Amino acid sequence: MKITLAGQGWTFEAASSDTVLEAAEMAGVRLPSSCRNGTCRTCICLSTSGAVRYKIEWPGLSLDEKREGYILPCVAMAATDLVIEAPAASQF
Ligand code: FES
Repeated sequence: MKITLAGQGWTFEAASSDTVLEAAEMAGVRLPSSCRNGTCRTCICLSTSGAVRYKIEWPGLSLDEKREGYILPCVAMAATDLVIEAPAASQF
């Protein structure tokens, strides 16, 4: 799966078993994160295209947020190619 950061124009590959956060880190992209288990919401970002599945049953997102396209990259795995908006992302 290909993940694109809309604002920066960066793209990286994600295996279906990697979370978006892990895939980003393997590609040298740092996304905001803290708990890494889907509760603190530090990593929340908008996905403007594509679909994700979650490795935990209840990621800390409301139904409305899910409908609007918000995802938690620390526990979300790309089910399709994804476009996400993460203005605070940096490269290392
Ligand atoms: S890092 Fe805490 S919810 Fe993602």
